[in-house]
Amino acid sequence: MQLDPQVQTSSEDPYGVYRELRDRTPLARYPGRDLWVLSRYADVQAAIRDPATWSSARGTVPSGFVPAKPMLITQDPPRHTRLRKAVQRAFTPRRVAALEPRIRGFARELISDFPGDGPVDLFEAYTNPLPIFVISELLGVDRERRAMFTRAGDAIIHGQNDPDSARVQAAQEELFGYLASVVPERRARSGDDLMSVLLHASGEGEALDEEELLGFCGLLLLAGTETTTMSLTSSIALMDLRPDLREALRARAELWPRAVEEFLRFDSPVQGQTRSLLRDVEVHGEKLREGERVHLLYASANRDERVFPDPDRFDPEREPNNHLAFGFGIHFCLGASLARLELRVALQELLARAPNYAVDHAGARRVRSDTNRGFDRLPTQLEP
Ligand code: HEM
Repeated sequence: MQLDPQVQTSSEDPYGVYRELRDRTPLARYPGRDLWVLSRYADVQAAIRDPATWSSARGTVPSGFVPAKPMLITQDPPRHTRLRKAVQRAFTPRRVAALEPRIRGFARELISDFPGDGPVDLFEAYTNPLPIFVISELLGVDRERRAMFTRAGDAIIHGQNDPDSARVQAAQEELFGYLASVVPERRARSGDDLMSVLLHASGEGEALDEEELLGFCGLLLLAGTETTTMSLTSSIALMDLRPDLREALRARAELWPRAVEEFLRFDSPVQGQTRSLLRDVEVHGEKLREGERVHLLYASANRDERVFPDPDRFDPEREPNNHLAFGFGIHFCLGASLARLELRVALQELLARAPNYAVDHAGARRVRSDTNRGFDRLPTQLEP
């Protein structure tokens, strides 16, 4: 068994390795990575619910990369508590629900540009642009910058293993430089876009300072887009192998909310996140020291037979489904309801346009990343 986060994340089926870890070495060591790994649901959940011991401040990815601007995801309390409260007001259920017609509009716009019956690379033509259009709309930034946002995400999220590389630094400068150039105009007028809202204090929350604002918008453009793209590509690839599932989803619209949760559990787009210890702890009889780093395998927790009956079966009606695909506790994904909405709408629209699509699995390409799982090339015949 070759044990490495990137190897597992990009392999065809990492779930056999995860099962072995859970059964034989629930606390394991990644050789050569200076990193422990926890794979059982109970252990992963216990860690993320205790941020006073399991810190996010030294990065949440195996390389220990910490972005150049302060981001919510790499803060511990009390700063995390204050920042989260300040941005929460921009993610009200009302604001998210109001986006549904816009998301559907974007999906249809992209679909109308598909070439006849294909072939088409669904990553390029659909799953990559859609989440970027949504976050750009939310932030009020120019969606035509998609190529730059994708480049930055690619360098920053997938280049984590070499965090000091010129490529990662240049990507950060380009992304934050663009965002900073938009701030003065937003400061001058108070619009309804998220940047304007966060720059101005209101009865519901305080304003962010400029560094915090840039970090937060950068986080949304990176983490809020790539994750959704990964999840869409994995779901499309999975449905390709399950015509019965496609048919069920088209015939019974009420299945969608549970099916979306099952897509997230079954092949989790964020396979794991890392924490650093703020004090010594004992786990499975082993003493872990303050400062040591532990990778928490959310995707393995989501297949843990101790929690999920028949975990390797995709069950679109699974209930309960308390997966950890969005994390848990104080860092629980801020965009979870938006992500669920995007997944449902994008997959619905795709099935309406191309119910019999066929993915060319030989031509598909998996992303190489320590944390995120999905495809960045998905050639597909729309009507075989
Ligand atoms: C399927 C899509 C998505 C998945 C699987 C996902 C997953 C996650 C996970 C696992 C975390 C917790 C990280 C940790 O424990 O260290 C997280 C945090 C976060 N996510 Fe998402 N995410 C998705 C989409 C989005 C979207 C669309 C947005 C924004 C609109 C977003 C914004 C955030 C933010 C801001 C945080 C940090 C929250 C905090 O630290 O308090 N995510 N996400």
